[in-house]
Amino acid sequence: QALRSSFARKAQKPNQTQYGLQPQASFKVAILGAAGGIGQPLALLVKMSPLVSALHLYDIANVKGVAADLSHCNTPSQVLDYTGASELANCLKGVNVVVIPAGVPRKPGMTRDDLFNINANIVKTLVEAVADNCPDAFIHIISNPVNSTVPIAAEVLKQKGVYDPKKLFGVTTLDVVRANTFVAQKKNLKLIDVDVPVIGGHAGITILPLLSKTKPSVSFTDEEVKELTVRIQNAGTEVVEAKAGAGSATLSMAYAAARFVESSLRALDGDGDVYECAYVESNLTELPFFASRVKLGRKGVEALISSDLQGLTEYEQKALDALKPELKGSIEKGIAFVQKEA
Ligand code: NAI
Repeated sequence: QALRSSFARKAQKPNQTQYGLQPQASFKVAILGAAGGIGQPLALLVKMSPLVSALHLYDIANVKGVAADLSHCNTPSQVLDYTGASELANCLKGVNVVVIPAGVPRKPGMTRDDLFNINANIVKTLVEAVADNCPDAFIHIISNPVNSTVPIAAEVLKQKGVYDPKKLFGVTTLDVVRANTFVAQKKNLKLIDVDVPVIGGHAGITILPLLSKTKPSVSFTDEEVKELTVRIQNAGTEVVEAKAGAGSATLSMAYAAARFVESSLRALDGDGDVYECAYVESNLTELPFFASRVKLGRKGVEALISSDLQGLTEYEQKALDALKPELKGSIEKGIAFVQKEA
């Protein structure tokens, strides 16, 4: 929705050509893991943005072909490819937004935490390079387990002396996208109008859709709340099982990540009305990282939206209490991983 409305808004500006060939702004976006299942469709969607002047695609292999292919699309951004660790620094120099979907996805029977051992190292290495080459960039972490990889990124940035908590985001947009879709289907609502805040984290019970805060206001039976909440929490597993060993969500994830990139670029461009859910450093609860709606601005997170946490239903309050120990454990695991290596 944000993606579409942003494109529509930009397209209406009088000094743009029909195909948006004269961008209004010129931001540089890097995608690390760009040849992967998420990386490729995400790169395509970001290539469509009139706000992007350069798209830097990095992977350890197979990225040249992706970049050559994408570069033929007649949208404004220039596409550059970077392969392997020796080209990572150049990929990152001068970049405004870095998106990280590098790493392995789940197979049936796996939890997101099962990916920790491989992905923790990948995220650590990539964020070290971000710290060295574009410390002012917004960093969007997609690689799972997000509940731990974001604290890992924060620790790495702290060690490098460049941590800005307002610019580090765990991408939970897919949880919102799924919640909006499932609620609209269930309640027969016009999809474009539906907005459900999703708080907590990005794994199993830590994903907490606040159905009582759905816009437009809509009432649910207790059964509906339970059914929808569980479906939203397990939606990733629904895809993992349907793909039967061939990976996890890639297309819906790319859509969601592109929406979050576009929102970040609008915020960087000075739009004063940009809100998204994201997993960020937070003081809304006693946990150091927590997903909530945030207001985005030129410098990153401008405000955490605390009102969503007020007046929770009994079901939501219980679910919030129940998710905290798991989320706390995942955060501590991420922090310990970096500290023990220091
Ligand atoms: P994939 O295996 O298709 O692609 C991953 C890409 O990362 C590959 O191209 C691979 O070469 C690359 N890669 C591996 N090590 C790298 C390194 N050191 N530097 C740069 N690139 C590297 O996996 P897919 O499906 O694209 O998923 C990527 C990640 O996103 C997984 O960890 C998955 O769990 C996560 N994910 C997160 C979601 C979210 O909502 N935040 C939703 C769905 C997936």
